[in-house]
Amino acid sequence: MRIVYVLNGPNLNLLGKRQPEIYGHETLADVEAECRRVGTELGLEIRFHQSNAEFQIIDWIHEAREIAAGIVINPAAFTHTSVAILDALNACDLPIIEVHISNVHKREAFRHHSYVSLVATGVIAGFGTQGYPLALQRLGRLIG
Ligand code: DQA
Repeated sequence: MRIVYVLNGPNLNLLGKRQPEIYGHETLADVEAECRRVGTELGLEIRFHQSNAEFQIIDWIHEAREIAAGIVINPAAFTHTSVAILDALNACDLPIIEVHISNVHKREAFRHHSYVSLVATGVIAGFGTQGYPLALQRLGRLIG
């Protein structure tokens, strides 16, 4: 089965509790369950991870580079700050879909710039947690 990494950055462990008016009431466990359900439908093996530590996300990208067919990543605040995550993704010859639960373009100006968009195959923002299964569907098509 084709392996897809679904990576989540800082504070997404608090999904459902943190600013629900922006990020909704679903938890990260709900998102993981939905990704696994859609992954099974699409014949994708999902490796779902979250970390508040930049190095950990970079290490998972390095792992994905060796064994995965694609990456879905919500880098959260690291989107707007991390050249290191951009460099790690640039070292991957894989389709990469960037996901944001909120519409970052409707929010503060500092959220309008994404380092990750420089390497992303596609970007989904503002679709709530539904962005994750949509990203997997797109990856399924790209690597199918
Ligand atoms: C986010 C948007 C980021 O600006 C923010 O720092 C997050 C979550 C989103 O999913 O909407 O933590 O990536």
